Amino acid sequence: MSTPPASLPASLPDLLRALPKAELHIHIEGSLEPELIFQLAKRNRVALPYASVEDLRRAYAFSNLQSFLDIYYAGASVLLKEDDFHDMAWAYLLRAKADNVLRAEIFFDPQTHTARGVAMETVVNGLHRACVRAKAELGIDAELILCFLRHLSEAEAFETLEQAMPYLDRIIGVGLDSSEVGHPPEKFAKVFARCGELGLHRVAHAGEEGPPEYIRSALDMLKAERIDHGVQAVKDPDLMRRLARERIPLTVCPLSNLKLCVFPDLAQHNLRQLLDAGLVATVNSDDPAYFGGYMNDNFVEVFAATGMDAKHARQLTLNSFEGSFASAAAKRGYVDRVEETFARFAGSA
Ligand code: ADE
Ligand code: ZN
Repeated sequence: MSTPPASLPASLPDLLRALPKAELHIHIEGSLEPELIFQLAKRNRVALPYASVEDLRRAYAFSNLQSFLDIYYAGASVLLKEDDFHDMAWAYLLRAKADNVLRAEIFFDPQTHTARGVAMETVVNGLHRACVRAKAELGIDAELILCFLRHLSEAEAFETLEQAMPYLDRIIGVGLDSSEVGHPPEKFAKVFARCGELGLHRVAHAGEEGPPEYIRSALDMLKAERIDHGVQAVKDPDLMRRLARERIPLTVCPLSNLKLCVFPDLAQHNLRQLLDAGLVATVNSDDPAYFGGYMNDNFVEVFAATGMDAKHARQLTLNSFEGSFASAAAKRGYVDRVEETFARFAGSA
């Protein structure tokens, strides 16, 4: 593998936008833009407690994770039919295409929908249809990861897994999301063990607001292959060394961390520190409709704020493919596309 050229183009933002990427941390319900929320509310005759798109957008001022989750779950109430799930995912995949995302591993929260009487089949079929269409029409490899809501019980997670059993060929893995503090990973050790036996990949949110111990517990008790967020790891030097040594990917979400007040401003974000310590950190959008940006917005803004350079860009995009659940052959193809992009930019510098 060649090293990046020393002199890169005039415009680092142009390079960042052009680079092929994998998105490994996107909650599909968090891609629901206010305009689509209102459109679906009308289509499904769902009453919303907001007068207009602008009124809803004004409510997007969050002080922490929970203040966001309350609005995020309310927004998802407009999703009722298979077409709604398809349309939401398709809108995201079009945005992903515009940002040169080649692979998306998409989280969904079935319990948010089954609790309202929407069948698992409706959710999975709608999302899956958009994924199949993305491959055919956009050339994006899109896969689904089912997340259990950690504020609910492990028994409810087992029920959800049972409901998903007929659709496991459409799901590559399971994750753990929602309110972190007070709901440590070990609460879900048994259901994650069962998912492992079923051949599903395992990831978990840990160290977003919660302590480094939650990251250890996700690794040791859930056998998580990736950690979603993980930014609190910097508080624990031993854990940092372990994450680097074991090449555990962290799916970091800079604009999310800013909007949920994990960092007071982007200049203080620790992404650069994670990368410089040799961790397999990646950039992702989390809930782009709520946090003010999709993939390229996250890249451009965090680079501008932290002064990262083309070497960091190369590492982040390579990390995103390494950290994905793609086959080894597909990963080689993605890496070739990254190298081609650097070669093209070096040629035009
Ligand atoms: N669900 C959607 N976004 C989330 C986040 N940032 N943390 C935990 N759960 C989530
Ligand atoms: Zn998340």
